[in-house]
Amino acid sequence: MPIAHQPSETGGERTEIPVNPVLTREPVTVPRFAFPDGELDADVAYQVVHDELMLDGNARLNLATFVTTWAEPQAQQLMSESFDKNMIDKDEYPRTADLEQRCVRMLADLWRAPDPATAIGCSTTGSSEACMLGGLALKRRWQKARRASGQPTDRPNIVMGANVQVCWDKFANFFEVEPRLVPMDGRRLHLGAAEAVAACDENTIGVVAVLGSTFDGSFEPVEEICTALDDLQARTGVDVPVHVDGASGAMVAPFCDPDLLWDFRLPRVASINTSGHKFGLVYPGVGWVLWRDTGALPEELVFRVNYLGGEMPTFALNFSRPGGQVIAQYYNFLRLGREGYRRVQQTCRDVAIDLAVKIAEMGPFRLLTDGSQLPVFAFVLEGELPYSVFDVSAGLREAGWLVPAYTFPPHREDIAALRIVVRNGFSHDLAELLLDDLRRVLERLEKQTAPQRGRESASFSHGTSPRPDLG
Ligand SMILES: Cc1ncc(COP(=O)(O)O)c(C=O)c1O
Repeated sequence: MPIAHQPSETGGERTEIPVNPVLTREPVTVPRFAFPDGELDADVAYQVVHDELMLDGNARLNLATFVTTWAEPQAQQLMSESFDKNMIDKDEYPRTADLEQRCVRMLADLWRAPDPATAIGCSTTGSSEACMLGGLALKRRWQKARRASGQPTDRPNIVMGANVQVCWDKFANFFEVEPRLVPMDGRRLHLGAAEAVAACDENTIGVVAVLGSTFDGSFEPVEEICTALDDLQARTGVDVPVHVDGASGAMVAPFCDPDLLWDFRLPRVASINTSGHKFGLVYPGVGWVLWRDTGALPEELVFRVNYLGGEMPTFALNFSRPGGQVIAQYYNFLRLGREGYRRVQQTCRDVAIDLAVKIAEMGPFRLLTDGSQLPVFAFVLEGELPYSVFDVSAGLREAGWLVPAYTFPPHREDIAALRIVVRNGFSHDLAELLLDDLRRVLERLEKQTAPQRGRESASFSHGTSPRPDLG
């Protein structure tokens, strides 16, 4: 996204927007870029803004995003009742603050913290902020330990797969930590345990393990990574903690794969984040980050705000932020419970697996993943064809479906894939409609003589990021 909006490509050179004559007695135009001089009636301003937004994609047909695009009216009502509440005003809105604390305790319970009562955590605007906080805590812990043993602290590094989401590049850049990105290799499209350990040394602040990769929805082998790091410690004394980026998976695995070891049951897992606004089923933006105990979050990173005449510890990059998302998260926890979340996530998984099988049966596609971990799957085209995945993505877009096409990171830049994220509200019925449209698009593309779009049109690659800005 550009950081400064220059007169845009859209709308040509027009700097004034004429207002629909039905809305005003006199002809009125509104400026597109200049700060308006005068006022408009609220109804007129509403209609102008509303009309501008009509050409946005339909959020329910957006199969690119992991973020919630449908929530119950009751959750919406609670959010609209609390638009005016600022999350940081703990003293003024003590009930909202209390609901945040309850959510943290519930997540600590869900993620099997040794003692949920002493696990520490907070809400954030999303997983990006949560990952920054998780990374910062790892860095500060490492610095403290190094200083205590008289070792230099000038060259911290963090080990992760080349498939991490762009927020980890940001963390490394903003907080001056060397990113050690383990490349993909052959059929291994995410971080492997042996490769993670091979990249670690005494300057490693932590290993990031992703539960579910943004590129293909696969779970990284958190337990294997922890075991390999235990072995490293036994051999060398180097003790490297793990942060689990469970942006999506931390709200799927506890319900659908209760026996999978990835959470605080593994003593090496120091912290976990998730996006409440992904499989936590809240509208954007809310995330969560938890540390297994107070020892994992250095005390000096914690700030105190007024709360009921006392102090409440907080750890956040932002100050003001809306309270409604946290309230809606608590509503969802209460409303669905473990069984409700299990049914919702399992339904998404069932739809994803079924859709993946049917896409594989169409002929030209090969699945990279099958939707059986995150309800997300990636697939590629096979053989010499007169069209590319970018053509398929563009064709589906004409029918209203947003299905991203993108290339993979080092060393598998040769892979160009399509990816589908199945979220709550994407039913078997919608999946059938998508399949019908996909068949129609393929029929049309088969008449082409050569691919029309190549890698340069990767629909989800933005700016200077070395990887597609997915998620
Ligand atoms: C694995 C992973 N980590 C972090 C993020 C960033 O999350 P958010 O959009 O909540 O900031 C994403 C987004 O898709 C993700 O998939």
